[in-house]
Amino acid sequence: MQQNADFPAGKFPVVRMRRLRYNPLVRNLVQETVVTPDKLIYPLFVRPGQGIRTPIGSMPGVCQLSIDELVREVNILKDLGLGGILLFGIPEEKDACGSDATKDNGIIAQAVRAVKDAVQDKLMVVTDLCFCEYTDHGHCGILNDHTGHVDVDNDATLRIIAEQALVHARAGADLIAPSGMIDGMIGAIRSALDQNRFEHLPVLSYAAKYASGFYGPFREAAESTPQFGDRRSYQMDPAAVAEQALREVELDLAEGADMVMVKPAMAYLDVIRMVHEHFPGVPLAAYNVSGEYSMVKAAAERGWIDESRVVRETLTAIRRAGAGIIITYWAKDIAQNII
Ligand code: PBG
Repeated sequence: MQQNADFPAGKFPVVRMRRLRYNPLVRNLVQETVVTPDKLIYPLFVRPGQGIRTPIGSMPGVCQLSIDELVREVNILKDLGLGGILLFGIPEEKDACGSDATKDNGIIAQAVRAVKDAVQDKLMVVTDLCFCEYTDHGHCGILNDHTGHVDVDNDATLRIIAEQALVHARAGADLIAPSGMIDGMIGAIRSALDQNRFEHLPVLSYAAKYASGFYGPFREAAESTPQFGDRRSYQMDPAAVAEQALREVELDLAEGADMVMVKPAMAYLDVIRMVHEHFPGVPLAAYNVSGEYSMVKAAAERGWIDESRVVRETLTAIRRAGAGIIITYWAKDIAQNII
């Protein structure tokens, strides 16, 4: 190795790397990358009804909850020192433009109000802002065919995105997280919020979100599977040049994003690191998505891997790559120290 001021001269037997590893006390002292509950965000799915806890088959331990059950849940979570919860709404009725999402008495608005009522400022409430859970076609916005094939109409969708942001804001969300990968969504949200005296409400952009097979189990949980086609005309191509993620982040920051996200996490650690290095002053989140969760759960159920070790190692890797904030379905288990 070339001589470098950060690595003083010396080699074996003068230097022995294992001296830092023999004694657990020393080992712990030199640890840098630690995962703490206050930097974890826990996703929750809310649906209409009463007394409902519907387990998601492909995500053991994850349920869709009715609002009353959600309130019971957050009353437990509020004392665990979590960074926050991320709410997804699943409406009773879906239609072509996802209108439940833009109503002040829609599922997400009701859920946010009930949760904030129960937890006050003891737990941060983040809302996922998208349309795929609310549309009958399962796409993340309004459709048209002006490009010659049916696709999400970018600019028409911006209008309802702005409306949805105001619904979340009025309901009392602490942080709004738009996940649709619609061009201009951050600007549309920011100006709607600013024009309605929500200029202090921050936005976490799902800035570099890839069209990923790892979202499969989530679509069961959120009942948001596209009824035709896929999301490749709006979410990023995993095979695109890696630096495309930097353009996405830069644009969202220019439109007023306060924090940005890379998603999924495990297969995109290089992207997390790149964004972290290029935008060191920007809070960076990573989403440890449903498929990443289900794979570990499935292998652990078979006794093939040790869930606790693998989860802690994975979250450590995501942090080490540069994500300060991690959204993960294991947040509660970590905070309760049961894995
Ligand atoms: C879109 C959204 C998705 C996820 C979070 N927000 C699904 C998608 O883009 O298809 C995926 C999260 C996960 O897989 O855990 N509203």
